[in-house]
Amino acid sequence: MDHLPNNNSQYKDQDYWDERYRHEETFEWLGPFSHFEHLLREEIRSNETILILGCGNSSMSYDMFMSGYRSITNIDFSPNCIEKMAIKYACCSGMEWKVMDAKALEFENESFDVVLEKGTLDAMMVDEKNPWNVSQETAEIIDQVSKEISRVLRKGGRFISITFAQPHFRKQLYAKREYRWSIKHQTYGSDFHYHFYTMTKGENLSSGDQELEDKRSQRAEPQSTVYLQITENEDYLNKIEI
Ligand SMILES: C[S@@+](CC[C@H](N)C(=O)[O-])C[C@H]1O[C@@H](n2cnc3c(N)ncnc32)[C@H](O)[C@@H]1O
Repeated sequence: MDHLPNNNSQYKDQDYWDERYRHEETFEWLGPFSHFEHLLREEIRSNETILILGCGNSSMSYDMFMSGYRSITNIDFSPNCIEKMAIKYACCSGMEWKVMDAKALEFENESFDVVLEKGTLDAMMVDEKNPWNVSQETAEIIDQVSKEISRVLRKGGRFISITFAQPHFRKQLYAKREYRWSIKHQTYGSDFHYHFYTMTKGENLSSGDQELEDKRSQRAEPQSTVYLQITENEDYLNKIEI
């Protein structure tokens, strides 16, 4: 597969993705829409405004459009991606495509009902070797993105994160009172279980998640090994261990 990077770190790089999208027409991370549509339907009404972060060349936005979601803004930091997707789906009125960095969203406060990401935050964490103790640099990147998401969400809005990452790893990044959201975790998939988090703005963290935030600084590394689920052809999940 000629789109595979020389090393995993490249999954963080804009240049890598932009070059990849010059050649690649479509790739679906974390399974097709049909596998998690039932979960999305529980969380998003068809008349709500949706922002998709790091849309890539996935067909998810189009699949959502065809299933009745009509206000979908897609961003990605790859100009090649956005240019090709805007042409491909020009017929879908209500779908917008913008080159933008998820760390610096160019939208007003409280402008979306839903922010959705699938595999985008995973790609930002590829250098992590120890998921129990995420590096300061990566924690700051995820914090920057999370603050932006919270800022652009309306009260009662939801941040939906579809990811390889199990709750004991990902919740430590999402559980912050500052983001003013609660966290719900679900899974989908049969062979591999993927993780579907719903953060609802305006609700409090559960007491368990508040404790997680409080304990984060003094967290001890467990002795047991956690084995990760491997997915499809690209094995960055297995290497990054998030
Ligand atoms: C693993 S791919 C997932 C693509 C798509 N969401 C999917 O489910 O197939 C990660 C995507 O995030 C985009 N991306 C990574 N970092 C980004 C950032 N800081 N701002 C915007 N897009 C970013 C990449 O260009 C790439 O399209």
